[in-house]
Amino acid sequence: METIIKVQNITKSYKMGKTRLEVLRGIDLTIKKGEFVAVIGASGSGKSTLLHILGALDRPDGGSVHYQNQCLDCLRWGKLNHFRNKTVGFVFQFYHLLDELTVLENAMAPAMASVSAVGWLALKPKVRERAFGLLERFGLKDRLKHKPYELSGGERQRVAIARALMNEPPLLLADEPTGNLDSQTGYGILGAFKELNAEGQTIIMVTHDERIAAQAGRTIQLTDGKVKES
Ligand SMILES: Nc1ncnc2c1ncn2[C@@H]1O[C@H](COP(=O)(O)OP(=O)(O)OP(=O)(O)O)[C@@H](O)[C@H]1O
Ligand SMILES: [Mg+2]
Repeated sequence: METIIKVQNITKSYKMGKTRLEVLRGIDLTIKKGEFVAVIGASGSGKSTLLHILGALDRPDGGSVHYQNQCLDCLRWGKLNHFRNKTVGFVFQFYHLLDELTVLENAMAPAMASVSAVGWLALKPKVRERAFGLLERFGLKDRLKHKPYELSGGERQRVAIARALMNEPPLLLADEPTGNLDSQTGYGILGAFKELNAEGQTIIMVTHDERIAAQAGRTIQLTDGKVKES
């Protein structure tokens, strides 16, 4: 299978007063296209830090990140933002939806980010149609005009998944996507991920919950800043 993302010897530390907190101490990881990978580890072990680096939301201190043959360390921030918008969809524990926008507008938002105002006018009908299709797929077609605060947690997370998929990103990254939901609702979200993965979507999901992790195709554990496969 083709490699989608490869990281080599990644290190990341944070300054804590006079000392440095070494969070990632040399991570090597290869993710193949079509994989569903769960990342587990204790709180503070660096799961979110690693996910942010994989999704180009942050840069490592050392080591390299290659997306297919593109070296991400070689890109300036502007190009990196463009790369992220086109390539990566994010789903977060607390949804991060925009409360002033409707459900439909939230789902459409990523498509708006990289086009001019004139371009947007031409593109909008297609984007609306795709957003509608995604929201319908995730059982939200009767919630299009709701605002996020009028939805349940599971519904909000399904809007977030629709938004993450808007630009057809080859890579879907999720940080504790079920962490704020009761277990039944959480399994519903996991079911959506499994379905997407069965259709070929590459997914990397951080979770605290080993039963959720067991449903992914592969689990990697972060311990002492290093990766352990299990
Ligand atoms: N911007 C930052 N500045 C300083 N320290 C940070 C920063 N971001 C994270 N850290 C520290 O780095 C460590 C790893 O954080 P990270 O958020 O990656 O952990 P995590 O495994 O996702 O934990 P959790 O399961 O609680 O979400 C933590 O000890 C955290 O306090
Ligand atoms: Mg975290």
